[in-house]
Amino acid sequence: MKKRILALVMTALMVLSLAACGSNTKQTSNDTASTKGGKDVITVGFSQVGAESDWRTANTESMKSTFSEANGYELIFDDAQQKQENQIAAIRNFIQQEVDYIVLAPVTETGWDTVLKEAKDAGIPVIIVDRMVDVSDDSLYTAWVGSNFELEGKKSAAWLDAYLKAAGKDKDEVNIVDIQGTIGASAQIGRTKGLEDAVAAHSNWKLLSKTSGEFTQAKGQEVMESMLKQFGDKIDVVYCENDNEAFGAIDAIEAAGYKVGLDGDMIVMSFDCTKAGLTDTLSGKISQNTECNPLHGPRVEEIIKSLESGQTVDKKKYVDEVIFSFDDSVKSLSIDGTDYPVTKLTQEILDKRAY
Ligand code: AHR
Repeated sequence: MKKRILALVMTALMVLSLAACGSNTKQTSNDTASTKGGKDVITVGFSQVGAESDWRTANTESMKSTFSEANGYELIFDDAQQKQENQIAAIRNFIQQEVDYIVLAPVTETGWDTVLKEAKDAGIPVIIVDRMVDVSDDSLYTAWVGSNFELEGKKSAAWLDAYLKAAGKDKDEVNIVDIQGTIGASAQIGRTKGLEDAVAAHSNWKLLSKTSGEFTQAKGQEVMESMLKQFGDKIDVVYCENDNEAFGAIDAIEAAGYKVGLDGDMIVMSFDCTKAGLTDTLSGKISQNTECNPLHGPRVEEIIKSLESGQTVDKKKYVDEVIFSFDDSVKSLSIDGTDYPVTKLTQEILDKRAY
């Protein structure tokens, strides 16, 4: 009798555990897919920085269209509104939901050790996208894909140097203001460094001011207004760390009665090369624009597919990016022994821009 009761209990436990397996088969990174309508579904929790810029909107769209239901994914998307504490809460939530993969676009580089350790302990692979994390143990994330932000900064500074030479102005005093991105974000750190290194290498370049515009148009405009109040037409170059800041800066400069452009009062430089940014580059309001490519969805998917099939993935992968300018006085830049072409923007190129 006792044996019969034991057998019944064992059978009931087996039935229960089989039912649990059927509803969510996510166990380890080698066994991640759950099933929906007979199809394997991979659950991805994506913590996005926010919606601060056109670049970010394009990035979100790339992630959402890649990790769609039709492609076999369940995407849990969280917009952190540029706040790290929101991103940490989102990651904890993803861990609780036992997602198969966590994708993190971190707002700043530092402050991730604890929460990424929690994800690692839960056996959930973390893929970092766009900006980097600065952690003491790099096994806390599986892979990173994004831009070489310092190289972007070097490209812009090298363009300015080459442009001034071509224009015969390389001996003039050059007064620069830097509207920085979100302080502590890789995109800010790299782009600011690229400029500061170049300023240090040119005795006639002066960095009058650097202030964060938080990668937004509104803040970019506000910062530019205050820089104009302080320095007025002493400013020769406005180095904006993204397109949206450049839009705000241009509005402020024009409202103050100055002309932007190579033949105007101030040269505006930018990063991203979004469609709106390139529209201003084609018109000459932005004189030079260094690309930062936001289309990371397929790149992250490639990493997930490799992991699903048991392959090893690159720990870090940089995206190739180009440089556009309004005029053709600079055709290429040599940086650390590598040549980078500079493309004079045309309507045809702009028409083909996807974001
Ligand atoms: O991290 C990439 C940067 O973040 C882009 O340059 C900017 O537009 C965005 O907000």
